[in-house]
Amino acid sequence: MDERQLRAVLERLNTTGCIVTSAFEGQSDGCFISYVVPCSMNPPRLLVLTSHETLTNNLVERSGFLAVHPVARGQETWMLLFGSTSGREVDKLASLRWKTGITGAPILDDALGYIEGHVIASMDCGDHTARLVEPVAAGLRDADAVPITTFELFARGLLSPSAPLGNPWSAFLPR
Ligand SMILES: Cc1cc2nc3c(=O)[nH]c(=O)nc-3n(C[C@H](O)[C@H](O)[C@H](O)COP(=O)(O)O)c2cc1C
Repeated sequence: MDERQLRAVLERLNTTGCIVTSAFEGQSDGCFISYVVPCSMNPPRLLVLTSHETLTNNLVERSGFLAVHPVARGQETWMLLFGSTSGREVDKLASLRWKTGITGAPILDDALGYIEGHVIASMDCGDHTARLVEPVAAGLRDADAVPITTFELFARGLLSPSAPLGNPWSAFLPR
């Protein structure tokens, strides 16, 4: 298989950027993820994939619960905060308003919405683990907010996420 062709097509799978949060024994954290997808309508379920390197993955592994928050246009700095720093070094939640949800996961007050739930199955996928999540609570706070996709984030440039839209694939080399 041509790895470059595979990468090129994978990069074109478009997903909504989300903040996934979790907590265990008094430690709370969250990270930016692009690997998240609804995977069943009835019953409603979603798949959330977290990298083995992240503290968030470690908290989800031990607690068995998480919350997912779609990131809206205008909240691009959340991608930088949650996607480029680790809770091992920075308390990312300290600068944001949040409450503890019914599962125990942090729920971000200013997110356009959230879904929290329990992990009912896990699968090691390589360098990420997929969590099948059964929602137990959800809320849409801002029906007018437009979720930002990773496609759009790459088009703006990861380090200047508020920049005008460009070619999303110029972020990837080689072409
Ligand atoms: C555009 C982008 C997409 C990302 N997608 C994922 C993802 O799907 N899953 C994941 O676990 N980490 C993803 N990350 C990486 C984590 O957000 C990053 O490693 C974070 O610093 C981990 O923080 P933590 O150690 O506090 O959990 C992504 C980062 C960026 C910038």
